[in-house]
Amino acid sequence: MDAIAEHFTTIRVLGEGGFGIVKLVKSGKDGQLFAVKSFGQTSNMTQALQLAEKEIALLKTLAHRNIVGFHGMGLDQKERFIILEYCAGGDLRSLINDAASQRKPIPHHRIQSIFCQMLLALHYCHYSYKGLRHTLLHRDLKPENVLLNAAGQVKLADFGLVKVMANGLTVTTSFVGELVAGQPYDHKADIFNLGCILFELCTLRIPNHGLRGVQRARESLNNLVTLLLSIEPVRRPSTADLLASPVIAGWLQMHWPRQKDSERAQDTNGARNIT
Ligand SMILES: Nc1ncnc2c1ncn2[C@@H]1O[C@H](COP(=O)(O)OP(=O)(O)OP(=O)(O)O)[C@@H](O)[C@H]1O
Ligand SMILES: [Mg+2]
Repeated sequence: MDAIAEHFTTIRVLGEGGFGIVKLVKSGKDGQLFAVKSFGQTSNMTQALQLAEKEIALLKTLAHRNIVGFHGMGLDQKERFIILEYCAGGDLRSLINDAASQRKPIPHHRIQSIFCQMLLALHYCHYSYKGLRHTLLHRDLKPENVLLNAAGQVKLADFGLVKVMANGLTVTTSFVGELVAGQPYDHKADIFNLGCILFELCTLRIPNHGLRGVQRARESLNNLVTLLLSIEPVRRPSTADLLASPVIAGWLQMHWPRQKDSERAQDTNGARNIT
């Protein structure tokens, strides 16, 4: 019997990616549900295992309420697997696609709440991880990698492409505009991708039709999307700038009025004024 089957019953496949598969499983011990991500169902085993080791090493060190929880790992025949908190609400891609097919816009307050939680998770990566500034870039922020738990709480996932930065230095590969412009990039690449997700949540369309579509969203969202999608990285706000802005502070207050002052202080560490 293999290691997963020994401890868990597989219920169904949750998703598939480049290097493996994610399954919903039930623990034989106490019936608790988990997501098991296994790496190895690919012709490039070496790369799959490298990715797995990298994601495991990182997930072990992350602790934030809006980042998917890590519950352990194992080796199954030749496959590496990671046991993760199960996010029963699915990913933002499904949320967006369902809303688009039903022609039902995602309510403004829901977008605000999702955005704030993505922002807090990203701010933790950029500013609070190991107490250093700009140390951890996600580099694969997209609706498929932002999950929701049963209560609708955001859980950032898929840390396979993360880059841990030394002293906030930039690196030379990118998945966003900076690559086109041939420039190095830093944490502002994640900010651009955050803007793309916000655009999609508002318009239910991917942002390749210019920014006009977002005019249908209310003004606060419209301005925010435009700012995050600034072509020049220096014009994009940091997560700290965003959290300190009156608009976002207002949303945080509206959605989590009882957040402790100490938590809020940590979340707004390092801001410059963007309004
Ligand atoms: N903890 C989870 N709970 C529920 N669904 C999940 C969970 N983790 C992943 N999924 C689903 O599986 C999909 C793929 O997961 P993930 O993004 O972690 O892997 P991937 O894209 O294959 O990763 P990689 O880029 O490392 O190959 C997600 O988009 C999501 O739909
Ligand atoms: Mg993914």
